[in-house]
Amino acid sequence: KDAYTLASEAAAALRSAAGLDKLDAPLDVALVMGSGWVPAADALGETVSEIPFTDLPGFRAPAVAGHGGKIRVVRTPGGRYALIYLGRTHLYEGLGVDAVVHGVRTAAAAGVRTLVLTNAAGGLRPETQNVGDPVLISDHINLTGANPITGTTFIDLTEVYSRRLRALVREVDPTLAEGVYVAFRGPTYETPAEIRMLRTLGGDMVGMSTVLEAIAAREANLEVLGISLVTNPGAGLSGEPLDHEEVLQVGRATAARMGVLLAKVVDRL
Ligand code: 6GU
Repeated sequence: KDAYTLASEAAAALRSAAGLDKLDAPLDVALVMGSGWVPAADALGETVSEIPFTDLPGFRAPAVAGHGGKIRVVRTPGGRYALIYLGRTHLYEGLGVDAVVHGVRTAAAAGVRTLVLTNAAGGLRPETQNVGDPVLISDHINLTGANPITGTTFIDLTEVYSRRLRALVREVDPTLAEGVYVAFRGPTYETPAEIRMLRTLGGDMVGMSTVLEAIAAREANLEVLGISLVTNPGAGLSGEPLDHEEVLQVGRATAARMGVLLAKVVDRL
């Protein structure tokens, strides 16, 4: 079965399991909450319904601790509805690129027009970034070696991360910086030499997600907003070794603040 057909089936199952057809407003935004971002989901609005990933075709329970495992529908304070993915599939899990972008294709098939991608990332600019800072993604460098699109459809990536949405977020919070997100496949963190390379290449944050989902979203003509939470400096920039627990812990307070901000953004879409 083809990946797009599977996504249509998942969207139909989601619409009925989450009662999407009974909402009093259309569901036009989906958010993917990366590690450490679950408090943002809690602050986004009241929960309308929750569906475990395992109830929907093509989804798997996330393999990594701290990465959630369900889909939540929330109602924002302004009365808009949003679909939140609490957890995502990463390329390093070895399930293939279609599994990584299945949630994005499902959201598109369910009628969503706007996608918010969040992640936890290493900071490549400790001179100007603090741990716990959210950074708007202005562009990306895809070093995963993968691409969700096969065949001869050439997709324009001049503006993967919507200028309009970034401006809208900065209207709500003018203090947010912007940066270029670099993605590796993982699951290893980078070596200090790789981190120096990424700084030379013009990267500002580094992580293991987001870029493939953003590409699949552009293929489906979704408008994309990306936000990284800088959880630690890249390897060799601080003298400390990297630790997954620290990545999860850092910025829980920031994530809650980001939920309030994202609710305002959703209400202004
Ligand atoms: Cl330093 N690298 C990668 N690839 N992902 C991260 C990270 C670093 N810090 C948090 N996530």
